[in-house]
Amino acid sequence: MGYETITAEQRGAVTLITLNRPQALNALNSQVLEDLIAAFAAFESDDGQRCAVLTGAGDKAFAAGADIKEMADKAAADFFLEDFFARWTSHLVKATRKPWIAAVNGFALGGGCELAMMADFIIASEKAKFGQPEIKLGVAPGMGGSQRLTRAVGKAKAMEMCLTGRMMDAEEAERSGLIARVVPHDSLVDEALKTAATIAAMPPMAAIVNKEMVNAAYEMTLDQGLLHERRLFQILTATEDKAEGMAAFIEKREGQWKGR
Ligand code: CAA
Repeated sequence: MGYETITAEQRGAVTLITLNRPQALNALNSQVLEDLIAAFAAFESDDGQRCAVLTGAGDKAFAAGADIKEMADKAAADFFLEDFFARWTSHLVKATRKPWIAAVNGFALGGGCELAMMADFIIASEKAKFGQPEIKLGVAPGMGGSQRLTRAVGKAKAMEMCLTGRMMDAEEAERSGLIARVVPHDSLVDEALKTAATIAAMPPMAAIVNKEMVNAAYEMTLDQGLLHERRLFQILTATEDKAEGMAAFIEKREGQWKGR
């Protein structure tokens, strides 16, 4: 499928999606949203694809935010009536059950930081910079920054970043729990693809359930979450892949997954 603002390619069982507006630091306009929705839907519906990686083209930015030039002349009523920004979460987070990784190669600001935080986890290059500078534009985060950033790094740092627009570098982001890992800039996409391939080789139902369980920790009390986890664990024991996985361990061989 052809896209205007992104590229998408299959590398074995991994889909690599690249934001491709480097001249605008991969700013997220409405066409980027349409292209990403289509690419994530194609990834989700393709049984051969098990994990995705999202990165940014060029050396400078993952995404420098929502497209300011597109928003500048828009009226408040239009933002409200369109429920502007709602479709990012509904399509890229809620409708995407398979795991995906953000490979952050540079600036991840405003909507760029928020898009990265929609991923199941972030791997960043040592040149990555994260921030929520919307306050400098007279607005505030709108794609989850005040919520996901606060859950990831805690109130003190999230509040400071939202109120001052200060950027966090990759080392601080790793220390603060925002990202899973920092890697050398030149090997970022290879490292992310390697990690995605590891996930893609896991039993697919178990991958989806593991993702759902960790995400549930954000929504549930500890008691509810522990019950939810036990029930999902118990359900997974009915799969053919559970029988195969345990037999393969005992027989000292690799499991051959059926995806059921
Ligand atoms: N929207 C539209 N265009 C953008 C953009 C954005 N968010 N960020 C960068 N660009 C464009 C610039 O306008 C410039 O285009 P031109 O060459 O046509 O002038 C091009 O990308 C290169 O940018 P700079 O010349 O500014 O590059 P720099 O290296 O000097 O600075 C930067 C880099 C610090 C990231 C700077 O570009 C910047 O501050 N960008 C805006 C960051 C921002 O405020 N993001 C939040 C947006 S609002 C939002 O995201 C709301 C939300 O919650 C979802």
